[in-house]
Amino acid sequence: MSDQAQSGIYPASAEFTANAHIDADTYEAMYAASINNPESFWGEHGKRIDWIKPFTKVKNTNFDYGNVSIKWFEDGTLNVSANCIDRHIATRGNQTAIIFEPDDPKGQAQHITYAQLLEQVSRMANVLKANGVGKGDRVVLYLPMIPEAAYAMLACARIGAIHSIVFAGFSPDALANRINDSEAKAVITADHAPRGGRKTPLKSNTDKALFDCSEKVKCFVVKHTGDQTTWVQDRDIDLKAEMAEASPYCPYAEMGAEDPLFVLYTSGSTGRPKGVVHTSGGYLVYASMTHQLTFDYHDGDVFWCSADVGWVTGHSYIIYGPLANGATTLMFEGVPTYPDAGRFWAVCEKHKVNQFYTAPTAIRALMGQGPEWVEKYDLSSLKLLGSVGEPINPEAWNWYNTHVGKGKCPIVDTFWQTETGGHMLTPLPGAIPAKPGSATKPFFGVKPVILDANTAEIQGETAAEGVLCIADSWPGQMRTLWGDHERFQEAYFAQYRGYYFTGDGCRRDEDGYYWITGRVDDVINVSGHRMGTAEVESALVAHEMVAEAAVVGYPHPIKGQGIYAYVTLMNGIEPSEDLRKELVKWVRTEIGPIASPDLIQWAPGLPKTRSGKIMRRILRKIAENDYGALGDTSTLADPSVVDDLIENRMNKG
Ligand code: PRX
Repeated sequence: MSDQAQSGIYPASAEFTANAHIDADTYEAMYAASINNPESFWGEHGKRIDWIKPFTKVKNTNFDYGNVSIKWFEDGTLNVSANCIDRHIATRGNQTAIIFEPDDPKGQAQHITYAQLLEQVSRMANVLKANGVGKGDRVVLYLPMIPEAAYAMLACARIGAIHSIVFAGFSPDALANRINDSEAKAVITADHAPRGGRKTPLKSNTDKALFDCSEKVKCFVVKHTGDQTTWVQDRDIDLKAEMAEASPYCPYAEMGAEDPLFVLYTSGSTGRPKGVVHTSGGYLVYASMTHQLTFDYHDGDVFWCSADVGWVTGHSYIIYGPLANGATTLMFEGVPTYPDAGRFWAVCEKHKVNQFYTAPTAIRALMGQGPEWVEKYDLSSLKLLGSVGEPINPEAWNWYNTHVGKGKCPIVDTFWQTETGGHMLTPLPGAIPAKPGSATKPFFGVKPVILDANTAEIQGETAAEGVLCIADSWPGQMRTLWGDHERFQEAYFAQYRGYYFTGDGCRRDEDGYYWITGRVDDVINVSGHRMGTAEVESALVAHEMVAEAAVVGYPHPIKGQGIYAYVTLMNGIEPSEDLRKELVKWVRTEIGPIASPDLIQWAPGLPKTRSGKIMRRILRKIAENDYGALGDTSTLADPSVVDDLIENRMNKG
């Protein structure tokens, strides 16, 4: 690692800055305006999208615990699908909206124009309507990264249905929970999801999930790989076949700005995943504005966000932001390492990608394969690189900058969350020089504050450290948790009164740059995916041989954080390697492969306070191999369990 990468400041080149949408002075002026007068700032920028009935009210938000309420542009009406498609038809009907690159490198890439997108989305919307899906109904999407996933999102938006995407790596159980929690009327799935040369049986997973759901739930199936699947008469619908018969135009519904656009389940520090609700107007304004300015997107550019549409990154930066801006957005079905570690770069070369947005975990995995995989390809089309999901470590930053960006592409490290709808802290590349590992400065309208974790006092000096809260609302903010406004207030507004609490620790340096230090709650970040330790624990204790389990994160060289599980077995059950494997498999089946424990330690006892509370702080330290800092263990009911855990720790690294 070079010293420069650790401590340097990296401004964009003069050439980049000269063409950028936002330069340093403009950033300062616009940021001040957005904070000093949000009404007029967002009143103006709210017009970047098309309204059916223009809004007259801009901001109506309250962060007071007990009365939290968030509304933007509340009396305006619009349709999100019309904004992402119809309004571009006159000027760019023949421009490619979506480039689809299949998992199989020998497969045919597709270029879908805006005019074709309108037709496909309309056809799908008409099929949904004909099958009884209407305004306000929830539709769960469990799909591979194929064009039909985009059509399905936009078809729901077109008719006012609310989509809820479940990542195709989740298990039937996780799918069933989300179908039931959102009381979905229908699921849209595919026969199989090809990824990295392997196939996930989505339809058969959906069949299993639907055993645990209302019989009324319809199942639309995209025949994608063409493999045989079971078929349930009167429930399963061949989506492509019905689309072929449907009318090629579907009028769009007039929706209120505050009508929900989608629900997306994400992990919290307690209990089951939470259904984050995003609405139509504010979300689209924010997704499109951040897409254009953070990535400095210009007309004609090819934009590639390598996330999956199952995560919020895919919602905002594969679909809604880019399409609202009339961009060309790339959808990639595969994985970075198939057929080899050069795939990302092969795709960049093939489609002449201009902006590339990925996660540090992917960069670290590819870095480990050596730079020769990058050098093989012509990456001269790249103008900008992005990073999201976790702090990017200096080695990965340096590698990304040198080998992928050839030292000429600004890197935007974007901090945000499922809850925030779009970027919160990020450099605007022509305005804010990067510091490797820092998400730099707030986007317009975002008012970050650092509070002392214990006293909740504002850390007013420029250089400060504490927990990251946001002092006022921005248009892309989530509005509530599906069906549970109380839990919404408890999860985000109860800890630090008057503020939205991100759950992240943060440091601000003497230049006013923000550095995220990681979650301060019981959420861990595995390969850029959020996982609640409570979820993994409840999966483990659901196994008949497990009496108790405690799960923590520990540093992992590729994943960022790995999952470390302490497991107490039922009386009389002997630990064994087979049982260890069985438990890993069990968690994969209960939640999905992303929740697989990396290490399981047999724990005859767990460190508990006298009132029975598990002291996770101690477990975290042991998993991190950091015994010097165990802190006070004298309040434990039985301090000797700690010695046993240290002696038998798994992560001797
Ligand atoms: O801890 C932060 C981390 O990811 C969390 C949000 O996860 P999720 O809702 O799944 O959304 C991920 C993609 C938007 C945050 O609370 N995080 C995300 N981006 C960064 C980050 N940590 C540091 N730097 C980032 N750029």
